[in-house]
Amino acid sequence: MEEGFFTLYQDLDREGPGEREDVEWVAGLLELPDNASVCDAGCGSGGDVPTFLDIFPDCRVTAVDTHKPFIDELLVRTDADPRVTAYAGSMAKLKGPFDLIWSAGAVYFLGVENCLTAWRPALAKGGAVAFSHPCYFVETPSDAAAAFWEDCFVTDAAGIDSQVRNAGFRTVATRRVSESAWDAYFRPLQARIAALRSNANVTLSEVLDASQNEIDVWTRVKDETGYLLSVVRPV
Ligand SMILES: C[S@@+](CC[C@H](N)C(=O)[O-])C[C@H]1O[C@@H](n2cnc3c(N)ncnc32)[C@H](O)[C@@H]1O
Repeated sequence: MEEGFFTLYQDLDREGPGEREDVEWVAGLLELPDNASVCDAGCGSGGDVPTFLDIFPDCRVTAVDTHKPFIDELLVRTDADPRVTAYAGSMAKLKGPFDLIWSAGAVYFLGVENCLTAWRPALAKGGAVAFSHPCYFVETPSDAAAAFWEDCFVTDAAGIDSQVRNAGFRTVATRRVSESAWDAYFRPLQARIAALRSNANVTLSEVLDASQNEIDVWTRVKDETGYLLSVVRPV
């Protein structure tokens, strides 16, 4: 199954929703210095790394993901840029100091509280964390909206904020990850599903079906749920 998963995601720009405007919004809020030290935790193939390099020409980006093939793709994508350090490993153990720990669509693997608690010692003085997390945007989500996330610990904005506070942080600002950010993820994925379909073996077909289902369900539940991007600081 994992192999089929990588076949589907191989060489895609990103493995979850996100767009340049998300990074720009966070950068504008935090007024990061040009030489900011940034960690992309759960970076995948590094969809957001070129944006950081573009916005902060003097920055240093450390990118970490457990999945080594994504790290290899990221290194190709950033063309051995000396500002980038990328390694396969767990984001539970980060070695800072970082002005910003950025994590798009990955915190739910370990949980908000666990991540923030683990990341606190890796933050530079005045440092912040920005992460996107599955979120309900309505009081009573449908069964379809709940099923969309399976076991991703989805909650609402108040639930995310409560976990932030439990970890000894405060929420500076939040915003919903936009529909165009989802489109940036799903459009290439949809094209890849179509391209792989005719020659897919049983295992790959199951992976393609699951991803197609994710795209189809999201179009039905997108008013009820999605990702909330939170910018948080230690108290
Ligand atoms: C939904 S993808 C998002 C990837 C990327 N941030 C993006 O937006 O395209 C989640 C990523 O988190 C990574 N991941 C999951 N648990 C991790 C952990 N404990 N440490 C580091 N990376 C992890 C997965 O390998 C996967 O690449």
